Amino acid sequence: MDSHWTPADIPDLSGRTALITGANSGIGHRTARVLAERGARVLLAGRRPEPLADAARRLRADVPGARLETVEIDLADLGAIREAAAPLAAAETLDLLVNNAGVMDVPERRLTRDGLELTVGTNHLGHFALTAHLMPALRRSAAARVVTVSAVAAAWRSGDLADLMSERGYRPMSAYAKSKRANVVFTRELARRLAGGAHRAVAVHPGSAITDLQRHTSTSRTGRLILAVASRTLMGSADGAAWPSLYAATHPGVVNGAYLGPAGRDQTSGTPKPVRLPAGADDPDVGAWLWRESERLTGVTFPVPQS
Ligand SMILES: NC(=O)c1ccc[n+]([C@@H]2O[C@H](COP(=O)([O-])OP(=O)(O)OC[C@H]3O[C@@H](n4cnc5c(N)ncnc54)[C@H](OP(=O)(O)O)[C@@H]3O)[C@@H](O)[C@H]2O)c1
Repeated sequence: MDSHWTPADIPDLSGRTALITGANSGIGHRTARVLAERGARVLLAGRRPEPLADAARRLRADVPGARLETVEIDLADLGAIREAAAPLAAAETLDLLVNNAGVMDVPERRLTRDGLELTVGTNHLGHFALTAHLMPALRRSAAARVVTVSAVAAAWRSGDLADLMSERGYRPMSAYAKSKRANVVFTRELARRLAGGAHRAVAVHPGSAITDLQRHTSTSRTGRLILAVASRTLMGSADGAAWPSLYAATHPGVVNGAYLGPAGRDQTSGTPKPVRLPAGADDPDVGAWLWRESERLTGVTFPVPQS
């Protein structure tokens, strides 16, 4: 592993196509910009047309000649995911899928269009369904990668995956921790199913950075106070928070099934490194259970044979 990798080490990505969810803001936007700078064709995915178009405008201004397209995908709507993915699955070759979008700290239990708890429904189940629908496009690539963005919260005890839909009680950050634990368990199970081929599934956590993710936290007075202190002392930049995703997406040495995080509190202090898996994430029984649950809850059958 390089002693101090930086995004400047990313090789030329001309001829590669990447799709990034949540590409209109925060870490996803930074990830998209660097991949576009390195020559990749980038499909910016987002749920709202205006911010998505605005993000594409900003990127075109920052990266002259960038090859960008926008794709509307609402991850809280399984029908919309299926419709958005269908033309891509039919005709595209996708070398990189970055499952980055997310919601956090949603104050009360809300549901997706399909009746799933919103945080797990968006952060995990939406990406599960999207990845499944995009599998034909990923399979056309000689060596595709699926990078899924988790969080330190994946390791919290409250991230236990029992009661995945928070039907027996809802706590905002517990739902977030479950969704982020599921991101890692999903990646490890996908890696098992891709084993033996050239495709790779990788999970990352970005450390922390002030982005729109804290929009709910910042609506309470206490939340605002905590964020004001944390942003000065503990949190990095969104640019730095994109490093683990960029490294996982492009570094030739990244192995199938890896879980990577920043080198230190300042994400730009060194090469992203392997981090400890949250409880259960390495247990094939847990992976198989989450897979079955995810198929049941989404009604989407994942077209990856188990090896
Ligand atoms: N920032 C941190 O400190 C931190 C720490 C750990 C992990 N993460 C993870 O990093 C990822 C990116 O977060 P961020 O910090 O960059 O936050 P952000 O700026 O709020 O970006 C989140 C993105 O997700 C999109 N999104 C939310 N709900 C969606 C839906 N139903 N369908 C499609 N897109 C949806 C948002 O779109 P809209 O703009 O339309 O809402 C936005 O583009 C998340 O997975 C988060 O859990 C972040």
